[in-house]
Amino acid sequence: MSKQTLGNKSVLYPYPVTILGANVNGKANFMALGFVGIVNTNPGMIALGVNRNHHTNKGIFENKTFSINISSQDMLEVTDYVGLTSGEKIDKSEIFDVFYGKVKTAPMIKDCPLTIECKVIKTLDLGGADDIIIGEIIESYCDEEFLTKGNPDIEKMKPAVFSMYENRYFGIGEYLGKGWSMGKEYKSEK
Ligand SMILES: Cc1cc2nc3c(=O)[nH]c(=O)nc-3n(C[C@H](O)[C@H](O)[C@H](O)COP(=O)(O)O)c2cc1C
Repeated sequence: MSKQTLGNKSVLYPYPVTILGANVNGKANFMALGFVGIVNTNPGMIALGVNRNHHTNKGIFENKTFSINISSQDMLEVTDYVGLTSGEKIDKSEIFDVFYGKVKTAPMIKDCPLTIECKVIKTLDLGGADDIIIGEIIESYCDEEFLTKGNPDIEKMKPAVFSMYENRYFGIGEYLGKGWSMGKEYKSEK
């Protein structure tokens, strides 16, 4: 074994490939987002790390709402595009067909298989480059074709994952086994 040290790098791989949406001055804006994860259940909460210079943040602070849209493998080009361009300079409001849900001000992308609307419950300034934003999930929306027994089915949704320092997108791999179940067969070999 020859472990190399990498230092303080954001290498919690793989990143999910999502699109963050917010209304800035009444106009939908979207950006690619990998710093995102579930941080609570009952109620479900999502935490984001969003560089404080981004345009999207203005809308999140303005309305206290945002959306997370799970991208799919066939949406990678447009996902990358909204990660390369800033709403500060380019109007991204017409790129996607958008719908609104319960919180009214979080634009969601119709073509994404799964979308989640959130209400901001806390923002943190930890002294780094990002605004840390925690939102409570108010509602989530999934097209019927991506559901199995009422739950989002990732084999049907075909989401992608991302690695930041090499900037590479990948699909998800094959099904490997059942959670909260495979471990029952485990026997230590030590
Ligand atoms: C795949 C991918 C993931 C990204 N993830 C993040 C992220 O987690 N946080 C962040 O602040 N910026 C992230 N970015 C960069 C923003 O999407 C990008 O700077 C965008 O242009 C900001 O748009 P805005 O200024 O309209 O808000 C990512 C970009 C890509 C391509």
